[in-house]
Amino acid sequence: MVVDFSPYVRRRCQVAKELGQGVLVLFAASPALRNNDVTYEFRQDSDFYYLTGFDEPDAVLAILGGAEPRSVLLVSPKDPERELWDGARLGVEGARSLGVDEVFPITELEQRLPQLLLDRSHVVCRFGDDSLVDPRLVRALAQARRQARRGAGCPSSLVDVATLVHEMRRYKDSIEVSLLEQAVSISAAAHVAAMQQARPGSYEYEIEALLRATFRARGSERVAYEPIVGSGPNATVLHYVKSRRQMMAGDLLLIDAGCEYGYYAADITRTFPVSGTFSAEQRAVYEIVLAAQQACIEAAAPGVTLDQLHQRATRVLCQGLIDLGVLSGSVEDAESSGSYKRYFMHKTSHYLGMDVHDVGRYFDQGKPRPLEPGVVITVEPGLYFSPEAPEAAAAYRGIGVRIEDDLLIEPDGARVLSQAVPKEAHEVERACRK
Ligand code: GLY
Ligand code: MN
Ligand code: MN
Repeated sequence: MVVDFSPYVRRRCQVAKELGQGVLVLFAASPALRNNDVTYEFRQDSDFYYLTGFDEPDAVLAILGGAEPRSVLLVSPKDPERELWDGARLGVEGARSLGVDEVFPITELEQRLPQLLLDRSHVVCRFGDDSLVDPRLVRALAQARRQARRGAGCPSSLVDVATLVHEMRRYKDSIEVSLLEQAVSISAAAHVAAMQQARPGSYEYEIEALLRATFRARGSERVAYEPIVGSGPNATVLHYVKSRRQMMAGDLLLIDAGCEYGYYAADITRTFPVSGTFSAEQRAVYEIVLAAQQACIEAAAPGVTLDQLHQRATRVLCQGLIDLGVLSGSVEDAESSGSYKRYFMHKTSHYLGMDVHDVGRYFDQGKPRPLEPGVVITVEPGLYFSPEAPEAAAAYRGIGVRIEDDLLIEPDGARVLSQAVPKEAHEVERACRK
């Protein structure tokens, strides 16, 4: 496969421009042990991948700004004995194809990293996240300081990578948008397949298996997060991931599942009746959540804040809870007392990108930040009536509904990337009829 590394070169150039006399240092992700000698599947660190497109562990990227900007990559050297077990590595020669200016073996890190820090005003890096990385960085800084006594300059401050790389990542370029579209399209197909397949008597894990199989069969590398497949009362458990229950006639099934494609995440939720028809109570709750979601989608545009979308969703949900007789008093009472939070306890939106809860600041000097073209968000209101909710009428207890779509903010509004998954109640019922 021919990989186009030009987007990574472009991003590194932008970083270099913004660095001034600084240097950015990023470590690749480290393989994590699961139990004994079994590791979790390796996934590259999102920032590292964003700037390199390189998916091996044991690597370090440095980008140097200034008059002669350059990027330097340290990678695992070729090792036929190890590669026999773990698969081929790019190696020092191979890594030159990534378009970086210099490549060295990672075995030279201790000597190269202090040199890369010399005469730099500041280091843009991540610290406090990885107990293996921090000491290596600190050692390199200490060594650079020692050399500074002999005349060289050394960095006087550490700057969080969030201020630079995460801000870039908040705005998706056209390549990122097409990867997101692909992740969403695969995930949409999996949701539709689940609607067709689930029936009374199915186990949640069968549907989870179908979702995972659909993702992989269509070229997704992995899930973007653990799929939530919650039937009946499990739909009211926000992070239910056990997938153990057998579905019964009359259950709703809430599926929150998205795949990752080319390191970009989809995040979609649908809730549907396993027997193919909503009960009157289920439908009433469903229509309220759908109205809240549609109100947010209509409002999503540059200049609007996620806080405003949340307020909009909350307002519709509060009115709905009052109409159902679950809450009493006015919408304003419910909003100010927070009484609705027993049934809607999470936020309406988050950024979406390489990470499912993607990076980028939500606030600017304490104020919610307006959306801008290129930002991708989810809109995901829900209502959850725990089986033990004594205040709710018995008919609503055990009902959980969430509807979640992925939106790209465009200059004049928002485009729903996930609209291929049925959402209107009658469309959902049609998709579920076997
Ligand atoms: N699936 C995680 C979320 O909806 O935020
Ligand atoms: Mn979700
Ligand atoms: Mn989400």
